[in-house]
Amino acid sequence: MPRSIAIDGPAGAGKSTIAKKVSQKLGFIYLDTGAMYRTVALKAIKTGIDTKNHQELANMMDKLDISISHENNLQKIFLDGEDVSEAIRAPQVSVGASNVAVFPEVRLKMVDLQRKIASGIDVVMDGRDIGSYVLPAAELKIFLTASVDERARRRYEELVQKGQPANLEAVRDDIIFRDKNDSSRALAPLVKAADAIEIDSTILTIDEVVEKILYFYKNYANITRE
Ligand code: CDP
Ligand code: CDP
Repeated sequence: MPRSIAIDGPAGAGKSTIAKKVSQKLGFIYLDTGAMYRTVALKAIKTGIDTKNHQELANMMDKLDISISHENNLQKIFLDGEDVSEAIRAPQVSVGASNVAVFPEVRLKMVDLQRKIASGIDVVMDGRDIGSYVLPAAELKIFLTASVDERARRRYEELVQKGQPANLEAVRDDIIFRDKNDSSRALAPLVKAADAIEIDSTILTIDEVVEKILYFYKNYANITRE
């Protein structure tokens, strides 16, 4: 069985930044599952489908062509053969991703792809439902949190640094909306798995969180093979 670490938590907690670093240290690949839901939302937006329209989205899923590649541990995601790794980061895609992620037709297809990848290679996978649903037998499960204000501040700073229009209140509202939407859906909601270790990163640096996770992996992981 390949090795696996699951990192779940709400938006802006530091999951992707930290998962990337942990995967580099361990020589695993990093799989960003949020990028998959974002890509589904981008397809809907591009084709004029309302991200809340269950029937139209279910029909769209039959024709969806998503693929993922890893080069030097950098994940690229393709929609209908086109690299959309940058396009899916647009703020309007975030809310769309949270909307489409409610529907079983979307989730089951994405989860299938995620499990296929993890069955063939060592992964650090981040998302909302990895420890609780996608990889219930992951060797280590981390639930990464931070206060809403700190998470909003981080996301706002990112936009400022990219020179994009930024409004702290709007970023905070988006995060609160998605936290609620992601935690309340029926299938595979954002939830801390019973056997996950919770890390609050509000006042921790990125490297401090990385060190903690590496320590937990070394000392407490449920590693079943030598
Ligand atoms: O993936 P997730 O939405 O959980 O968060 P992220 O995109 O990895 O992190 C959001 C921002 O917070 C990034 O710009 C990180 O550099 C920053 N961050 C931080 O300042 N301190 C931490 N302990 C973790 C992340
Ligand atoms: O980086 P950030 O935390 O802003 O979001 P993301 O990880 O890219 O995920 C975007 C949206 O996809 C989330 O708000 C969730 O609604 C959804 N998602 C999910 O439902 N399950 C996952 N495993 C990952 C993301």
